Amino acid sequence: MKPKILVAREVFPEVLERLRQHFDVDDNQSDAVLGVEGLKARLAGKAGALTAGNDPITPEVLAAAPGLKAVCNFAVGYNNIDLAACTKAGVMATNTPGVLDDTTADLAWALLMSTARSLPAAERWLRAGDWPGFRMMDWLGSDVHHATLGILGMGRIGQTVARRALGFDMTVIYHNRSRLPEDKEAACRARWVDKQTLLREADFLVLLLPYSPESHHVIGAAELALMKPSAHLINVARGGIVDDAALISALRQRRLSGAALDVFEGEPKLNPGFLELDNVTLTPHIGSGSRATRMAMAMTAADNLIAALSGQRPPNLLNPDAWR
Ligand code: DGY
Repeated sequence: MKPKILVAREVFPEVLERLRQHFDVDDNQSDAVLGVEGLKARLAGKAGALTAGNDPITPEVLAAAPGLKAVCNFAVGYNNIDLAACTKAGVMATNTPGVLDDTTADLAWALLMSTARSLPAAERWLRAGDWPGFRMMDWLGSDVHHATLGILGMGRIGQTVARRALGFDMTVIYHNRSRLPEDKEAACRARWVDKQTLLREADFLVLLLPYSPESHHVIGAAELALMKPSAHLINVARGGIVDDAALISALRQRRLSGAALDVFEGEPKLNPGFLELDNVTLTPHIGSGSRATRMAMAMTAADNLIAALSGQRPPNLLNPDAWR
């Protein structure tokens, strides 16, 4: 008999087909968000699960699934998974690092350019029929070329964002708990600075930190106050890293020129303050959202699950103690 698994959210048919070669699959192609109660009900009797970054794998969910051996996120972020509880329950947890770096870096750049030149607001103005024709003083934006790009969180995606800045002749500074080795700094011509210097000097500040209790509200009122009034903030990492209420207040008072956000505190709900502002670009958590990358993420998660349930160490294991 094949092991039973749950695919907790909609995935490409090719991924289901691959999984069905190994498992008895309970799918959720209607993409209904299961939440804690739904996961408890559907995980009972399952040996494994493919989950999205917003499916909560909590101690309560784990307790309802005593036969569970592996939870494989199709996301690089895994703040939805209580890793300590998984290890305690002997459940392996995996994520999908690497396959989405370029696509997410591309969106960071799309947002950066978009906020620099107020593209969404300018387009709304044009569509509303308000454009009287060329005028010298309309929609004056900020130059990206030769500006200073600041990156908070210099992992793989941060470095990928930095390398793209070379073509814009930008100065690149970054802050990370640990400094990159010299060859990696040289590859993206980036200079490590302390956090205060980063906040003070960046014209464009891109956030690329994972979410954890330590990174909660890493950018709040005090940090925003250090930034240049002409600066722009870009977040393609996770909601909750930024204090959204503090950001709205800074944008409203033009203490910050603009922001571009792909992630939000409490998403999919938005702080309604964002909707009143013209100096913020908003996208619905689509950082990794190219067809090829989403396919690679789902296939990577499937590979992890196949390995985990066939006695092999999954390539992207987050809690090695659960495997041992
Ligand atoms: C990730 O991979 O973490 C993306 O945010 C999608 O959840």
